[in-house]
Amino acid sequence: MKPPNTETIIYRLKSGLPDELHRLLEQAGRHCLKRGESLYIAGGMVRDLLLCLPGKDIDLVVEGDSHSLAIELARIFDGEITLHEQFRTAKLSVGGFSIDVATARKEAYSHPGALPTVQAGTIEDDLRRRDFSINSMAISVSGENYGRLIDPLGGFADLEGRLVRILHPASFTDDPTRIFRAIRYEQRFGFQLQTAPLKLLEKGKGNISSLSADRLRYEFECIFAEQAPEMALARAYQLSVLGEISEALIFDKTEAKWFEAARGAYSPQAVPFALYMALLNYRLGNEDNNKLIKRLNLPADAAKTVSGISRLKQKQDDLKKADMRPSDIYYLLAGFDPLAIKACAIACPHHIVKKRLELYLTELRHIRPILGGEDLIRLGYSPGPAIGQALLAIQEKRLNGSVSSRQQETELARNLLQDSKPEQ
Ligand code: CTP
Repeated sequence: MKPPNTETIIYRLKSGLPDELHRLLEQAGRHCLKRGESLYIAGGMVRDLLLCLPGKDIDLVVEGDSHSLAIELARIFDGEITLHEQFRTAKLSVGGFSIDVATARKEAYSHPGALPTVQAGTIEDDLRRRDFSINSMAISVSGENYGRLIDPLGGFADLEGRLVRILHPASFTDDPTRIFRAIRYEQRFGFQLQTAPLKLLEKGKGNISSLSADRLRYEFECIFAEQAPEMALARAYQLSVLGEISEALIFDKTEAKWFEAARGAYSPQAVPFALYMALLNYRLGNEDNNKLIKRLNLPADAAKTVSGISRLKQKQDDLKKADMRPSDIYYLLAGFDPLAIKACAIACPHHIVKKRLELYLTELRHIRPILGGEDLIRLGYSPGPAIGQALLAIQEKRLNGSVSSRQQETELARNLLQDSKPEQ
């Protein structure tokens, strides 16, 4: 099939984008013409528009200077900008929209895994430096060319053929993050990586070790943000890509089920990064777990969750014991990271352990005495450790359901503190 004509693309732009954003793009295109420059939408948004999918981010490319353009657009639209010098890009925030503006550029890689060095170029240069043909299309938003599709690399044909195709043989070696990206697109759209790119992926995957921790972690953030991250992870495992990060990592049907269960527990796009990460690491031993925390330079909260699961797994035998009182469960689990407990509740195969972990998360950890220290002092007891001990004893009884009202707590406190009430 032929690529859609300009009218169809304008129609898709109008129907696919909020009115204000569409107007903003038209106006920005006109403004660029006045500057003697051409402006384009490029990358993922063009791909999504052609697939009739809702676009997420807007990436604009100007054959000219992105910084001065972004500054002028921010003035015209009363927006805010952040400028990035390294790649001459700018982020423009206008009326709730976030738009990236970049100068059309050529790129060169000094060594595999490095960030590229850049120099100004044409829109075609800019499309040629990109990862896959399906991401290497642009739509002009300038003047009489408004709505014209620029597709020098056969991106539309590959969208139709459902292919993820790299643009040059060194692509995965230059930028090993593209290995993860290829897998994500393949799984997200149900496309295919053909034999030739798969062989290049196989060759390039050794360079994953040259990626910085932050770049590698970002790839996991992107995978976890997919609607079904388990599909990309299973494929990454099958292609031995996960093995390049840690030989101990496994991702098969078991992990896939845990990921689905995590989505069942949260709304689909709201599963915390740390929970997915903990489930990915669940089968790892303590040492491999710690290595992965370091390799990905996990932020403190996620590191706490991931290291928490190793320690929690050691508590599982205790949690299987018969006749555990709610307070026993509470004291065993208090102090553990709740997301680590959630990960264990999802992944642990023992029904009773699962039930007890969930009981802790949903009920026990929220149980506190109704009375506080101040209440006991108001009853005439002197401040001191005895009050703290009494409150702990009340909490234990509440956990086990043997006191439930303020009156019962007060009676219990009187019994417990009878020796510490000062003489009246
Ligand atoms: N890009 C690239 N190589 C990379 C990362 C990005 O060539 N390693 C290019 C691609 O053309 C991509 C664009 O930069 O389309 C924007 O990158 P990003 O926002 O990460 O991707 P999107 O295509 O918007 O994809 P997604 O839908 O996953 O957000």
